[in-house]
Amino acid sequence: MESKDIVGAVRDLRSSLSHELGASEESELFVNTFLDFRRCMTLYSCAIREVRTKFEVLNEELSISHERNPIQAIYSRVKSPESIFGKMKRLGLPFSIGNMVSNLNDIAGVRIICQYIDDIYTVAAMLGGQDDIGVVKIKDYIQKPKENGYRSFHMIVEVPVFFSNEKNDVRVEVQLRTIAMDFWATLEHGIKYKKEIADSAAIVAELKDCAEQVYALDTRMQSLRDRIRGAK
Ligand code: GTP
Ligand code: MG
Repeated sequence: MESKDIVGAVRDLRSSLSHELGASEESELFVNTFLDFRRCMTLYSCAIREVRTKFEVLNEELSISHERNPIQAIYSRVKSPESIFGKMKRLGLPFSIGNMVSNLNDIAGVRIICQYIDDIYTVAAMLGGQDDIGVVKIKDYIQKPKENGYRSFHMIVEVPVFFSNEKNDVRVEVQLRTIAMDFWATLEHGIKYKKEIADSAAIVAELKDCAEQVYALDTRMQSLRDRIRGAK
């Protein structure tokens, strides 16, 4: 049902765009590029669904076997065309779908919010171990935080997406964090985009100190949980 709708929508779009632009080589190229871009964005949103489902399944299974949900929340987004073009411009890449697909790893993004630090490593290893998942890159900003204090576990994975007549391996950026790390990263992200920051060196230092306090809380909560589990 859904694929018929997409095919129908593409056909309608193709004829309305051709009508709008008139028949010429240039308009043909524009329409085809536009449709390829849409198809590509559909692949990324389907890849997100695949990855989200994998984490939902893991969470449900672990809630039975371990009587708790290691995953607190899942967020996802497809990068907007504006951000895609902006990033390619920053990277000095001429726009083409080929350049976009091979150079941008974060067009599809999934963020997993875990309760405890060890949950992050547990679910990341479970995802990475699935035989249809390819792990392209890992950046462990928990073991090795960024200079500003940012902590999260980042994975670039490839997941197969099956269309009617082809299989595509699609890259997805997965960020795994605790609730506390997400609290810090969300507020820090908001603050960074506020203009005219006075006394910025002091603010950077204070933000970093907040990140350390957040991390200390994470480790305390985890050891509290372990003490309670041990006492059971
Ligand atoms: P981008 O080009 O920004 O995507 O970075 P990258 O390719 O070097 O990858 P990296 O793994 O370092 O960061 C990817 C994403 O992690 C960013 O787009 C943010 O969502 C998040 N991130 C990285 N550093 C920070 C940070 O200092 N603060 C916050 N709030 N988020 C960050
Ligand atoms: Mg990014």
